[in-house]
Amino acid sequence: MNIIHISAECYPVAKVGGLADVVGALPKYQKGSTTSSQVIMPFYNNKFTKEHNFHTIYNGVINLGVEPYDFRVLTLTENTLDFDVFFIDVPELLFKDYVYSMDDTERFLSFQIAALDWLLTWDNYPDIIHCHDHHTGLIPFMLQESYKYEAFRKIPNILTIHNAQYQGWFSHEKVGLIPPFNFENVGLLDWGGSINPLASAIKCAWAVTTVSPSYMEELKLEANGLESLLRAESEKCSGILNGIDWKVWNPETDHYIIKNYSSKTVHSGAKANKKYLCDTFNLDFEKPLFAFIGRLVNEKGSDLFPEAFKIALEKNNATILLLGSGNDLVENQLELLKKDYIGTYNAFIGYDEKLSHIIYAGADFLLMPSRVEPCGLNQMYALRYGTIPIVRSIGGLKDTVIDITEENGFGICHKNVTVPEITEAIDRGVTLYSNQTKYKTIRNTIMQLDHSWDVSAKEYINLYNTIKTD
Ligand code: ADP
Ligand code: GLC
Repeated sequence: MNIIHISAECYPVAKVGGLADVVGALPKYQKGSTTSSQVIMPFYNNKFTKEHNFHTIYNGVINLGVEPYDFRVLTLTENTLDFDVFFIDVPELLFKDYVYSMDDTERFLSFQIAALDWLLTWDNYPDIIHCHDHHTGLIPFMLQESYKYEAFRKIPNILTIHNAQYQGWFSHEKVGLIPPFNFENVGLLDWGGSINPLASAIKCAWAVTTVSPSYMEELKLEANGLESLLRAESEKCSGILNGIDWKVWNPETDHYIIKNYSSKTVHSGAKANKKYLCDTFNLDFEKPLFAFIGRLVNEKGSDLFPEAFKIALEKNNATILLLGSGNDLVENQLELLKKDYIGTYNAFIGYDEKLSHIIYAGADFLLMPSRVEPCGLNQMYALRYGTIPIVRSIGGLKDTVIDITEENGFGICHKNVTVPEITEAIDRGVTLYSNQTKYKTIRNTIMQLDHSWDVSAKEYINLYNTIKTD
């Protein structure tokens, strides 16, 4: 079975968030004696593409409406990844030093059309086309409806929704950018009076998945306007929990962290990483260290951090370290807080892959008070590194973290995203930390939980088999 993943992000080539981690891991775990799994992604002007050599394997021209655009398909001259990646270079539109921007409609349409045009030239078409999020959401429609891609009608395709908040809407005035199709079926593109790539993919894909079972159920009730569509299409919808890439996220071999360790040596190993963080960020080593890593957006509850952190820090029994970027106002408030809590609080506003690994290794607790969390990878990285997650029970967080008060529990969970619930959860962490025997036992246990991709990769293969044609 030959599987093609089509995605805007893929680690380590281009990463904005968890989508990259998933697309950069799943193909490795899908590869088998009878299965190949490859990725098609845009060619961006970023660190990875500057530092690697590529060669062209195909040259073509696409039309966006009446505008022609040259494109080429590239591969790595020396592939150091564990799977094949094909890069679509549309120099005028895609080759930028960012992944997402304001002109994404044209950018990602050019990507999708160029990818399909190139696939048309293959001798053997893929057995499965797997699309990720709205950036590739028009592919199921084009496979089904565009005259140009008639040869693809029987290729089963699936959509994975990593985040339904973002849907890629654009106005019907731009419908001419999509390769010609039977206009009677234009309704398949529409949701609420706009062209909605995510909604269109939900309608046209042969199967639709979300990145955790709970998130699928939640979307049927609230999906930024798509809830009734998901209910109507529920027969082809399911939730498959993400895994994490054990080859990348392994405290025994992680080359980013200060000291490697296993579940047997977690206490001394994690301590060395905590020491580095406390020295670097001027934090009191004796107090429990609570960390946050992620996008500073309302979905992650970050608008409540300034107030919640203040309340928690006033008690002077914990330290807090934040790594993230996003909302300007929140960034400023979090920067301002630094001067009031020297020695117990610090923040690095920005993106830093290496630092994120050291924080997973060195923090005592990881905060995730998300309003929406389709899956969340951070809590699984934290578990793997022996850091106790403090989460709001929603989506994938609900599916992966059990509160310590429950049977086999190991984390701290709260129900709502409010300042009092966040600070109360931090208090519970402080109490747990003061019982070092219990705290250490939990650390050992969580490092042994298995959230590797092995299980989920098989679930995807099973799903492909149910929709595959002979
Ligand atoms: P989302 O995709 O919604 O942002 P996930 O939990 O699925 O959330 O994945 C986030 C990924 O991005 C993780 O690998 C996390 O470590 C990483 N990440 C987020 N913000 C930063 C940052 N500022 N610096 C380094 N890594 C980050
Ligand atoms: C999205 C979600 C996140 C999920 C990630 C990978 O970015 O917000 O919860 O873990 O995709 O599927």
